[in-house]
Amino acid sequence: MRLHSVDPTSPDPDVIADAAARLRIGELVAFPTETVYGLGANALDPAAVARIFAAKGRPSYNPVIVHVADVDAARRVVTQWPESAATLAAAFWPGPLTIVLPKSAEVPDIVSAGLPLIGVRVPAHPVALALLRAARIPVAAPSANKSNQLSPTSAEHVMRGLADVEGVVLDGGPCEVGIESTVVDLSTERPTLLRPGGVSVAALEAVLGVTLQRRAPDVASDAPRRSPGSLSRHYAPRARTCTVAAGDAVALATTIDSLRHDGATIGVMIYSDFGLPFREDVVVRVMPSRAESYAHQLFATMHALDAAGVSAIVVEAVPGSATWDAVRDRLRRAIA
Ligand code: TXA
Ligand code: MG
Repeated sequence: MRLHSVDPTSPDPDVIADAAARLRIGELVAFPTETVYGLGANALDPAAVARIFAAKGRPSYNPVIVHVADVDAARRVVTQWPESAATLAAAFWPGPLTIVLPKSAEVPDIVSAGLPLIGVRVPAHPVALALLRAARIPVAAPSANKSNQLSPTSAEHVMRGLADVEGVVLDGGPCEVGIESTVVDLSTERPTLLRPGGVSVAALEAVLGVTLQRRAPDVASDAPRRSPGSLSRHYAPRARTCTVAAGDAVALATTIDSLRHDGATIGVMIYSDFGLPFREDVVVRVMPSRAESYAHQLFATMHALDAAGVSAIVVEAVPGSATWDAVRDRLRRAIA
């Protein structure tokens, strides 16, 4: 992919116009959103969307989120717009929330992996919004990484995984939120959480005035899945990853010793003050103790540990409270 720098707050209209034109003729354009970088293609062009699947090595049963500039454009890719959708869009768009609703016939089946439903969102990044407005088409965009690998929160991460892919990357700097959007299915009688993410469940429930239903975990099969982001191994670094209990200095020291004994090069991600003298051979990353800040740094830290060449990552378990849902979810998948 070829890199083009853009000012993240006021992107150059010529760069945006060029990228939008590329999308319209079926090329791939990776672009920053507030969550992670997306690998975009014209959602109305099945051949263009097929290029996304090929570039990522993404299984055909995994549907792709459609990005649009505003509510009007969102309504054109679905066949229903219930009160709950209007409420959520008003509260959280532009922002890290994906709404799943029955798909309109205009959107080709490859986008939804054959499901009758489509995930749609209005991203809150000036570059993404400028691109969507200029392109005047819905843009299918999964995270811009190879399937099952870490999501990219910078253009450099995109290049690390997809350098050989034909297309351009708009480099708008690091992503603010750092983990993917929350995915909520509004086609069910009660709204169903398909993937925790940038908007908290508490915030959704407060606005909707109902508790979200949690979808039962997927069983292993090749059938289309309601949210394959729920596949157990996903968002994984190259290094094998394990966890120790929060604040448990003894467990941390023992785990490091046994990994060292096995000849591993070790990275650790901690947020408590363990008061341990770490040996120089251990790459220590001190993480924030607030959930949003931790999320912002999560993928970037795992990318950095991978780049540092560690073969094992020991992660201090994060708190069990609801504010940590999305982070816990991504860590669990990295460890699976
Ligand atoms: O923050 C994000 O959502 C990022 C940025 C680029 O917008 N995109 C992203 O896309 O994370 P991806 O493809 O890596 O993850 C999409 C998630 C998957 O869990 C997928 O299964 C679910 O959304 N999804 C997409 N379309 C769906 C549909 N029609 N029905 C159910 N789930 C869907
Ligand atoms: Mg992804």
